[in-house]
Amino acid sequence: KQVKVHAPATVANMVCGFDILGFALEAPYDEMVLRLIDEPIIRIINKDDYNLPTNPPDNVAGAALLALMDELDGKVGFEVEIKKKIKPGSGIGSSAASAAGAVVGANYLLGNRFSSDDLVRFAMCGEKVASGVKHADNITPCILGGVTLIRSIFPLDVVQLSSPALHVTVVHPQIEVKTENARKILKHQVELKDAIKQWGNVAGLVAGLLKKDYDLLGRSLEDVIIEPIRSILIPGFDEVKTRCKEVGALGGGISGSGPSIFMLSKDEATALKVETVMAEVFTRLGIDYHTYVTAIN
Ligand code: HSE
Repeated sequence: KQVKVHAPATVANMVCGFDILGFALEAPYDEMVLRLIDEPIIRIINKDDYNLPTNPPDNVAGAALLALMDELDGKVGFEVEIKKKIKPGSGIGSSAASAAGAVVGANYLLGNRFSSDDLVRFAMCGEKVASGVKHADNITPCILGGVTLIRSIFPLDVVQLSSPALHVTVVHPQIEVKTENARKILKHQVELKDAIKQWGNVAGLVAGLLKKDYDLLGRSLEDVIIEPIRSILIPGFDEVKTRCKEVGALGGGISGSGPSIFMLSKDEATALKVETVMAEVFTRLGIDYHTYVTAIN
């Protein structure tokens, strides 16, 4: 018995919602094949050139499956083939896709005995291997699709948000930003005036999504707490943001912990103009990059 899984890339934070908001992309996605085996082991087979660890506890898919198997009777295991199309370290949820894809596939093979909340819990154990902390803002949209809000992580309380059609342009500059490091540099205290601005934006963004109010949504894509610190790690960030808005993007910011930058647009024509702007900036800076023009899925 086997199942093929497409695990999509995701954008965590959605600018102002650090660790609580995220959305799934139509593309790219990892391709995985899972097979049920009748001994309680995990076999990881990499079908790409990234040389990711195959020892289950060190592999994000493996660690997520180990967490799932802890809640089984110890009679079955899984063989997992992983073809990563989402580049590790790109900031569009590569590790979350492996972790989420693995447990979604495993659950299907087990006759869907676990709830989606269970799957998020298991997949977070994989995410911890990659970034040192459990966060679910990539995993949840990867499993549920669309835009998701994690109202609380412990205990888990997830809300799926409806959204108007949104086109997404992503640029991945080929520089390294490790999530673990991008979290270490953050301040642990925020000023009340900044907190007020931030929760105004989070509420505005959620309201904008639900009311399909593009202007409100665009105005709310502002982060006064995390972005000012993290954006220092991404050359060209301010210019990309300003110029993309000039050509009509609603707004955007760092995708997850970076280095990718994403911008939201109302229509595809604008999303393509945004791509041109992104390409111009990174070409001028002499930094290799990759762009994606896609949509929230
Ligand atoms: N919310 C996490 C962070 C996502 O920004 O650190 C990491 O992909």
